[in-house]
Amino acid sequence: MQKNSKPKIAIDGPAGAGKSSVARKVAGMLELKYLDTGAMYRAITLKVIMNNLQLDDLDLLNEVLNETEIDFGNNNQVFLDGKDVSDAIRQADVNKLVSPVSAISEVRKHLVAMQQDIASESNGIIMEGRDIASRVMPDADFKFYLDASIEERAKRRCKEQLEKGINLALDEVVREIKNRDNIDSQREDSPLTIVEDAIVIDTTGLSFEQVVDRVVGTVNNELQQG
Ligand code: DC
Repeated sequence: MQKNSKPKIAIDGPAGAGKSSVARKVAGMLELKYLDTGAMYRAITLKVIMNNLQLDDLDLLNEVLNETEIDFGNNNQVFLDGKDVSDAIRQADVNKLVSPVSAISEVRKHLVAMQQDIASESNGIIMEGRDIASRVMPDADFKFYLDASIEERAKRRCKEQLEKGINLALDEVVREIKNRDNIDSQREDSPLTIVEDAIVIDTTGLSFEQVVDRVVGTVNNELQQG
């Protein structure tokens, strides 16, 4: 890491491992830009749904990708072509289709290029997703991999949704997460993997604060030594 520059931090892991809330908190504490790459795949998926696009019509998909704008607001709102879609991208129809859409190489190539541009324009960033350490920022200063048991991840999802007044059946959420895990880790293009130099944190049984402390502690220790 260059003197006076802030760290580049990658956080990868499966659905529901707590990456977003941890990354957002750490970004605030270390004054880093935060990028939720899953939200970008979700926004494209929403566009696919709204335009009734077929996933095998790659020419049309490429055309649509080239004319799609994805932006983030100051409070991490997600804008698709100028419209706030922060809630829409978290709905069940997007949850169902987002893994198949993100397995398409054209989609990945497009979004990875956008993510790499954002990283190169930022002095310090914390980016979370599935392929951040392996593909988007292989030169990241820190590569965390957050994991948790499937039951724990499903319970967290249910609790999170219940706080918004949405009551989900636990076994349904377990099934949906398992299905996404399978597609995300078995796809050919940049599957979810743990890179060799990753710092793996199993968050099962850890509180949110404990996970944040582990991440911030690791970064601060290293920065003080360096
Ligand atoms: O983190 P999330 O649940 O919002 O991500 C939604 C989907 O997007 C996830 O199932 C796989 C895909 N994704 C991806 O393929 N690569 C990333 N870097 C981030 C997300």
